[in-house]
Amino acid sequence: MTQFNLILLGPPGAGKGTQAGRIVAEYGIPHISTGDILRAAVKNQTQMGLEAKKFMDAGELVPDSVVIGIVKDRLQEPDTAKGFLMDGFPRTIPQAEALDEVLDALDRGVTKTLVILVDEEDLVRRLTGRRICRSCQTPFHVMFNPPKNEGVCDVCGGELYQRDDDTEATVRNRLDVYRNQTEPLIDYYDRAGVVARIDGAQAPDVVYESIRAALGPAGA
Ligand code: AP5
Ligand code: MG
Ligand code: ZN
Repeated sequence: MTQFNLILLGPPGAGKGTQAGRIVAEYGIPHISTGDILRAAVKNQTQMGLEAKKFMDAGELVPDSVVIGIVKDRLQEPDTAKGFLMDGFPRTIPQAEALDEVLDALDRGVTKTLVILVDEEDLVRRLTGRRICRSCQTPFHVMFNPPKNEGVCDVCGGELYQRDDDTEATVRNRLDVYRNQTEPLIDYYDRAGVVARIDGAQAPDVVYESIRAALGPAGA
């Protein structure tokens, strides 16, 4: 059985969430977004959510120990047996090393790391105009990817909202954090020979075709 142990890597606004929906639908693997899991914890005001919120609102990374714990727990779930799609994890070298350890222990490894590349000024425009579904987390954009009915999710009819960290100042900081702490992971996965670079500046459907070409057929 082909395993699809996949990582989506790329700066804030590159289109990780947008492409994740398409990938998990075709490849039948669960979407594991640490950002979505953390936002759910903030909304439910759990202990973890209360602690994470101050980092997220500032555009800083939540401490490694917290997110590594989230992912370790999530990988215990049986739906990850055929594979998974990590979105927004790992984001630091210690997170990548922790993931490798967990997968090693399961006799598995990362199949592919899809690196989505987009110019910085485009990222700012994408993020400041983004709207997200409160129910299913699907991202839209007021100009580049508008929903059929303003304020309403095309997928599930949920209400669209703007993320607290999508202001221009916070976006700029998130981009700095990406460059300093997350971009080095491209080299990390290049050394493992699993990187596919994807031009993320094209329209979403075109980007998805490049991803499919890099992943190959979903198989049985
Ligand atoms: P997270 O939720 O992961 O946010 P992010 O990495 O900043 O990425 P985004 O979700 O903003 O962008 P995306 O690539 O998903 O783009 P999208 O598809 O929505 O993390 C948030 C915070 O949580 C972090 O800052 C941190 O505090 C914390 N956190 C999470 N994980 C962590 C970890 N592992 N360690 C520590 N802390 C962690 O698209 C963006 C917009 O562009 C949308 O409007 C979309 O419609 C539009 N768009 C998409 N594709 C295209 C296209 N091809 N053309 C035109 N527009 C497009
Ligand atoms: Mg996202
Ligand atoms: Zn929805």
